[in-house]
Amino acid sequence: MASQGLLGLLFLVLFVLSIGTTIGANSQLSPDYYQSTCPDALSIVQQEVAAAIQNETRMGASLLRLHFHDCFVNGCDASILLDDNATFVGEKTAGANNNSVRGFDVVDNIKAKLEQACPGVVSCADILAIAARDSVVYLGGPSWNVRLGRRDSTSASRDAANAFIPAPRFNLSALISSFSAQNLSVKDLVTLSGAHTIGLARCTNFRAHIYNDTDIDSSFADSLQKICPFTGNDDVLANLDYQTPTCFDNFYYKNLLNKKGLLHSDQELYNGNSSTDSLVQKYATNNNVFFQDFAKAMIKMGNINPLTGSAGEIRNNCRKANMYYV
Ligand code: HEM
Ligand SMILES: *[C@@H]1O[C@H](CO)[C@@H](O)[C@H](O)[C@H]1NC(C)=O
Ligand SMILES: *[C@@H]1O[C@H](CO)[C@@H](O)[C@H](O)[C@H]1NC(C)=O
Ligand SMILES: *[C@@H]1O[C@H](CO)[C@@H](O)[C@H](O)[C@H]1NC(C)=O
Ligand SMILES: *[C@@H]1O[C@H](CO)[C@@H](O)[C@H](O)[C@H]1NC(C)=O
Ligand SMILES: *[C@@H]1O[C@H](CO)[C@@H](O)[C@H](O)[C@H]1NC(C)=O
Ligand SMILES: *[C@@H]1O[C@H](CO)[C@@H](O)[C@H](O)[C@H]1NC(C)=O
Ligand SMILES: *[C@@H]1O[C@H](CO)[C@@H](O)[C@H](O)[C@H]1NC(C)=O
Repeated sequence: MASQGLLGLLFLVLFVLSIGTTIGANSQLSPDYYQSTCPDALSIVQQEVAAAIQNETRMGASLLRLHFHDCFVNGCDASILLDDNATFVGEKTAGANNNSVRGFDVVDNIKAKLEQACPGVVSCADILAIAARDSVVYLGGPSWNVRLGRRDSTSASRDAANAFIPAPRFNLSALISSFSAQNLSVKDLVTLSGAHTIGLARCTNFRAHIYNDTDIDSSFADSLQKICPFTGNDDVLANLDYQTPTCFDNFYYKNLLNKKGLLHSDQELYNGNSSTDSLVQKYATNNNVFFQDFAKAMIKMGNINPLTGSAGEIRNNCRKANMYYV
């Protein structure tokens, strides 16, 4: 009996390994990665994310965006979390991040709780992936099983962040190229942009759209021009989804149908291209399909070039690469 059990286990292991090699490196990630090494990891993150959003609703959006800005720059490796110092320039001051990305204190709190429970086990890259999912769920969106086992980079690249994070001035073809550089499809672009159903943007990022573009509802543009002048007040904020800004739902797409996207890049998804237009229409009328596709696309984004095995490290402090004494 015992040897049969062992044989069965051997086949199971071989089977899992063969699936692993067919799908590729990304399948090294698995939802139960911390099951034995840190069984409370998921509940700890969830609790801290809930507390952070209760304190400030916007934090859910900010945490979701951190995972995106991490994954698009040389993979989901927590590179975005590294602080600059006298001898190191990281990604925090890249164009898309400077004075814009937030949530680092919340990540520190989560990491501190995890280090108490299971020191040196849970990576900062996985914290970002779990916190993104928990934020979406907390604000009413879909859930998914977060694949885990990413390790943390020992470095970061501001140049790569400037090169790979898409900008709000991008037209559709530039947006498609940006996603394609991450092996993400046109559909993924439309689906993941639905993240703009929550959170805020600064005047400097939507000014050109509300003053210079014609693919915007004129009364919507007028109301935004009242808070975002042609010059100055760069940091004034507006909701990315003006209707239900703190609820994760499909109103982002409904807004696009009415030419009420906040960013130029948002409205580009519904601006005459038959394939993206029809997907926007589908999501605007079918929240369930949007939720299902969003969950799938988040798993895909979370699979971008993870460090696994002995690559990278488990940082002790998410803001700083570990020091090694030789
Ligand atoms: C398609 C290309 C995208 C562009 C050009 C873009 C651009 C932007 C810009 C300009 C802002 C406002 C930043 C500021 O004014 O400080 C923003 C906010 C945000 N973005 Fe995106 N984004 C894109 C895709 C995504 C994706 C794929 C996600 C996540 C899956 C995402 C999640 C968010 C969230 C949640 C916010 C609000 C953050 C907060 O309030 O703190 N974005 N984005
Ligand atoms: C709560 O949110 C405010 C911003 O609204 C922030 O300044 C403060 O640090 C947060 N407090 C905690 C405990 O996270
Ligand atoms: C980041 O923003 C600050 C202003 O808050 C500015 O002084 C600095 O030059 C910016 N950094 C980069 C690299 O653009
Ligand atoms: C889109 O933007 C790229 C890069 O700025 C530009 O070369 C291209 O002509 C634009 N395409 C359209 C259709 O406007
Ligand atoms: C627009 O849609 C067509 C398919 O209908 C697609 O082939 C094309 O690449 C799309 N992109 C742009 C930028 O027009
Ligand atoms: C995209 O796929 C190609 C071919 O499989 C691979 O070489 C490349 O590393 C992938 N890029 C990213 C960002 O995952
Ligand atoms: C709008 O377009 C005008 C004329 O091309 C240009 O001078 C101005 O800088 C643009 N404004 C914004 C906010 O992009
Ligand atoms: C500066 O930051 C880098 C990346 O986190 C780290 O490797 C290095 O040890 C830091 N230097 C100092 C003096 O803290």
